[in-house]
Amino acid sequence: MTAVQGKRSTPLGGLTTRTIGRHLEVFDALPSTNRLAMELASNGCREGTVVIAKAQTEGTGRMGRSFASPLGGLYLSVVLRPKIAPELISPLPLVFGLSAAKAIGCTAMVNALVRWPNDVLVNGKKVCGILSLSTSSKGRLDSVIAGIGINVNSKVSDLPDELSTSATTLRDESGHEIDMKELLRNLMYFMDLHYSMFLEQQTDALLNEWSERSCTLKRRVRMDMVTGTVEGTALGVDRTGALLVRTEDGISVVSTGDCIHLDENPISAKAER
Ligand code: BTN
Repeated sequence: MTAVQGKRSTPLGGLTTRTIGRHLEVFDALPSTNRLAMELASNGCREGTVVIAKAQTEGTGRMGRSFASPLGGLYLSVVLRPKIAPELISPLPLVFGLSAAKAIGCTAMVNALVRWPNDVLVNGKKVCGILSLSTSSKGRLDSVIAGIGINVNSKVSDLPDELSTSATTLRDESGHEIDMKELLRNLMYFMDLHYSMFLEQQTDALLNEWSERSCTLKRRVRMDMVTGTVEGTALGVDRTGALLVRTEDGISVVSTGDCIHLDENPISAKAER
């Protein structure tokens, strides 16, 4: 069992969601909210359970990286049990990136954009990362864990030195302290809304909205994947959430990897023609 500190089961006032956050578990510190959420999911916890920690000692990120999780951030994992085939789940992490960007934008009053697949950037720097995990057995999806980490009221100087030019915090970008409960409420509101739209098969509309909020499309990108690297122009996402990149050799369809923006600004429609 994951070692835990300071557990509280807290209702959050003003919550209007149908599924997400109806049961909250709040901790002062955890090794990783994703790890505990996985354990709760395998023990049959109810859908929409949210595990929150004020700090993590072993936060995990995409591509096997660690995720710096000092005090002042918001670290949470949501347990979901979508009744869909495992192969249909791939756009959901992008959808939650959209939810996070909208919640961050309206709470901190900043221009929050998504970088493929689901980072949220403010002024070109990362404030939020998402790691989704899923478990399935006998060809059926058991659970999906959506783990979200946001740099909220911490300072860039609280993050590891190597992130000082690529990451930022909402407090540093907005110039004021952010109401953490309001951010949490807004995040769960948008996740809940988008999750029901996803289950109602409105994925195309969600991916269109993702595209409108994206700072990746129409840019020169380098995609770093386990299998190698491709460079080109990011054209759009397909229905699975994969990024379509025009390279010298044709269109590459990238399903997993890191996306590095190579230019400062999107290529204008005129220059692209
Ligand atoms: C990334 O940017 O690489 C994804 C980072 C995801 C971090 C969150 S914080 C809450 C949850 N618990 C974890 O250990 N990881 C995710």
